[in-house]
Amino acid sequence: MCGIIGYVGFKEAAPVLLDGLRRLEYRGYDSAGLAVLGEQLEIRKKAGKIDEGLARLVQTAPPQGSNGIGHTRWATHGPPTDANSHPHTDASGRIVVVHNGVIENYALLKNRLQLAGHKFLSETDTEVLAHLIGWHYQARRGSSGDLHPLAQAVADALREVIGTYGIAVLCADHPGLIVGARRGSPLIVGLGQGEHFLASDSAALVAHTRDVIYLQDHDLVLLTPQRHEVHRLQGEASRVEISRLEFDTAAAERGAFPHFMLKEIFEQPQTVRNALRGRLDPEEATARFGGLNLSPGELREFDQVVMLACGTSWHAALLGEYLMEELAHLPVEVEYASEFRYRNAPINKHTLVLAITQSGETADTLAGLREARRRGHKVLSICNVVGSTIAREADGGIYLHAGPEIGVAATKTFTAQVTVLTLLAVLLGRMRMLGAAHARRLLAALEAIPAQMQTVLQLREQVRRIAHRFAQAEDFFFLGRQFNFPVALEGALKLKEISYIHAEGYPAAEMKHGPIAMIDERTPTVILAPHDSLYEKTVANLEEIKARRGPIIAIGTEGDTTLAQKADEVLLLPRAPECLWPLLAVLPLQLLAYDIAVARGCDVDKPRNLAKSVTVE
Ligand code: G6P
Repeated sequence: MCGIIGYVGFKEAAPVLLDGLRRLEYRGYDSAGLAVLGEQLEIRKKAGKIDEGLARLVQTAPPQGSNGIGHTRWATHGPPTDANSHPHTDASGRIVVVHNGVIENYALLKNRLQLAGHKFLSETDTEVLAHLIGWHYQARRGSSGDLHPLAQAVADALREVIGTYGIAVLCADHPGLIVGARRGSPLIVGLGQGEHFLASDSAALVAHTRDVIYLQDHDLVLLTPQRHEVHRLQGEASRVEISRLEFDTAAAERGAFPHFMLKEIFEQPQTVRNALRGRLDPEEATARFGGLNLSPGELREFDQVVMLACGTSWHAALLGEYLMEELAHLPVEVEYASEFRYRNAPINKHTLVLAITQSGETADTLAGLREARRRGHKVLSICNVVGSTIAREADGGIYLHAGPEIGVAATKTFTAQVTVLTLLAVLLGRMRMLGAAHARRLLAALEAIPAQMQTVLQLREQVRRIAHRFAQAEDFFFLGRQFNFPVALEGALKLKEISYIHAEGYPAAEMKHGPIAMIDERTPTVILAPHDSLYEKTVANLEEIKARRGPIIAIGTEGDTTLAQKADEVLLLPRAPECLWPLLAVLPLQLLAYDIAVARGCDVDKPRNLAKSVTVE
C-alpha cells in the first residue's frame, strides 16, 4: 500500500524515480510526488495517477539532482489532494519525508508541535512525522554522537511514534544521503555500483540491480552513492544479508494484452503448472515441498489447521478448508487475519497455522502470524512474493511461483493458492486417511487442470457477449455449494472490485433465507451448477430464482442439457473431480468481471479506492 522509491548516485534522479513510481503504481495511485536534491531541494507532487499528474509536472519543470525520493499514495489521512500528496517537509522546509503506513498517535504529536508553533499544510500523519524529525534535528544541532545527525533525528522521532512506517528522508543540509527506516511496512535497499536505491517493493528495483537487502522491522539505513549502513533503532546489532532478486522483467510487462488483469487471467494454465512443478510424487501418491521446515513427524502431530488471510486469499483459504476436511479429515478454522489478531481464540497446541497472502505484506496477516508465533504455534506461509516479510517471518513456507501480479484484482495468485492448498491437503491426507489410489487419481486430475483451463479460456467470446448483456445491472448474486461456495464469493468480489457493481456471494441454498427478496428481473444471478453430488439441489435453487424472474447465468459441466432449458445463459466447462472444479469455475467469473468492467469504462488494473498490497491495518 503506497509505494516508495529512493535514489542516490550519479544519474539524474527524477527519471529514475518516475520509472520506479510507475512500477509501484499498482500499490496505490491516488496521488504521487517526488523530491530531488541537487543545487537545491525541489518538490513536485500532484493528485491523480502518475501519467495524468506528476509526470506532466516533472516534464514541465524537471528537478535537477542525483539524489531523490518519490512516493505513490493510497490515502489514509486526508483525501487525495496535491497538499496531502507526499513528500512532506518539516517546518524549515529542508527535510523531506515519504512514508508508507499509519502513525497512530499523530494527533497527539501534532497537538504538541502546534503548541510549539508548528503550522501544518496537510491533513496527513506523514507531515507530522516530518515536523517531528525536523524538531529533533534542530534540538540535536551541534551535539556530537556516533550516528549521523539526520539519522539520529530520524531515530529520535521514530522512538516517539506508535504505528507502522516505511520511510525515506532527505535533508537539504546533506546532499548525497538518504535515511530510511521500517516498522511493519516493507523497505528494500538496492545495491548498485556508485549508486543505491531504496524501495518498498522489488518491482521498482529490478531494472537497476538484483542485489538487495531486505530491511527488518526497526532497521534504520543510511545510503550514500558509495555506502550503505544498517543500524537497529533499538540498539541491537543489525543482521545484514545480501539477497539476489529472481525476477523476470518481461513478466511485469503487459505485452499485447490491453490490461494486466486479462494477461494474468490467461496466464493461469502456466501459473498452475508452475505451482505444481516438482511437487508431485506419483510413486508415493503424495505431494512434497522444499521449504516447510517441518519433519513428517511434526506434520503428523497436527490435529487442527488455522488459516489466516484477507480478501481473495481468504477465499482461497475457505476453499482450503473444504479441501483439508475432505482429504485430510482435519478440522480447519479460516480466520480473517484482522479479526484473529484481536480475538482470544482458543487454539489447541497441535495446531498448524497457515498465513495465506499473495503479497506477503498484508499488515493484518502479518500481525496474525506474529500473534500465532507468539503463542508458540508453527506458522507456514503460502505466498507469492519471494523475500516478503511474511515469507521471511514464517517458520517455513510454500511459494506460489505465479510471477508478478500487477492487476490489483487477484486472479492467477488465487488459482495458484488453491493449487498449493490442494497439494498440502493431499500431503496431510496421505499421513492420515487418504488412500494411495484416491490420492493418485486426484493428483493426475490436478495435473490435467492446466490443459482444461486452456479449454475454459476459449469461452472468452461467449463470456464477453454475456458481459455486454448484463453490464448495466446494478446488483448481482453469485451462488455455489460446497467447494463452489468460495468460488461464488470470489466471483462477487471480482465484480465489485473492478466494476463497482454491488455483488454478493452465497451458498446456493442460503438465498431463500433473505437475499432472495432482492431478486427481480434486473438482478442477475450467476449459479455454479456442476454435475456433482448436489446437482439436483443446486438446480432447485436455480428454479427458485427463475420463479422470481431473476435472470440466470449458469455454469455447468460439459454434456449438461438441463441448464440450457432453465437459464438465460449457460457456460459449460470440462469435468473434473468436485474438489478441483473450482480451479476451472473461477475463470469465467474472472472474465465476466473483467468484461463487465471494460464495458462500463472502468479502470480495470487500478480500480478506485483499492490497492494491491495493504500494509495498513
Ligand atoms: C488487497 C488486494 C486483494 C487481496 C488482499 C489480500 O485488498 O486488493 O486483491 O486479496 O489485499 O492481499 P494478500 O497479499 O494478503 O493476498
